[in-house]
Amino acid sequence: MTGVIPILRTVTELRDRVRGWKRAGATLGVVPTMGALHDGHLSLVRAAQRDCDRVVVTIFVNPRQFDSPDDLAGYPRSEAADAALLAPLGVDAVFAPGADQVYPKGFATSVRVAGIPERLEGLHRPGHFDGVATVVAKLFGMTQAERAYFGEKDWQQLQVVRRMVADLDIPTEVVACPTIREADGLARSSRNARLTAEARAVAAALPREMTRAARAMRAGMPVPQALAAATAAVLAAGFDRVDYMELCEAQTLLWTDRLDSPARLLAAARVGGVRLIDNIAV
Ligand code: PAF
Repeated sequence: MTGVIPILRTVTELRDRVRGWKRAGATLGVVPTMGALHDGHLSLVRAAQRDCDRVVVTIFVNPRQFDSPDDLAGYPRSEAADAALLAPLGVDAVFAPGADQVYPKGFATSVRVAGIPERLEGLHRPGHFDGVATVVAKLFGMTQAERAYFGEKDWQQLQVVRRMVADLDIPTEVVACPTIREADGLARSSRNARLTAEARAVAAALPREMTRAARAMRAGMPVPQALAAATAAVLAAGFDRVDYMELCEAQTLLWTDRLDSPARLLAAARVGGVRLIDNIAV
């Protein structure tokens, strides 16, 4: 059904709604987001709608996963535009709580996954994955969803959430959906909205050089050489900095130079003051 989507602000409203659906025997899918929705999010919604009777999109800019107040303040917020994008899809509800609903007075719990968060993004954004794991655990508890949909674009986040769900016996199935890209290969991200025209023109060099490196590794180029070449090419294209460009085991995210089991090339780089991340299978 398309039309006006109910926007639920409190956990009580959400719980009432979910209780009614479950009583009627419906399965529930949740798409956790921080808003500023784009085609990548919409693809998650469509996947959820294929699998589940009811779909809730959560919109909450989670302060606990930002390591810098400036990044939090500058994060795009566009709830009315988000609701307009979701309306034609016929989502059953948007859960857009205030911070007081998610972290009420006295809140004292943090979920920390060991291992996976200690590398890559975790080294550059201290505490980020504790914030993600905590809010995702809360959103799973609040929605009681049978399935939750995450984009492969945030590959490390996906592995952290999978680890947490397995370790804590959370009965929510985590469903991964492929990264949605622009025509020139740039991964869709809410942060792309912050790119100037000049930075946007440079940005596609990241996926392009990663793809080139993956191809070179598969063709036998030593991994360190392919990574160094990709880093140099991204900088030469106009990026200001490469935070990392690493080949990792796909699930543990431990560094690897082997291609005989699933490996992932992950990178983070800055252009025009915007930090972009990407990853591809090798
Ligand atoms: O990927 C995101 O948008 C966020 O990290 C998430 C999963 C919604 C948690 O705040």
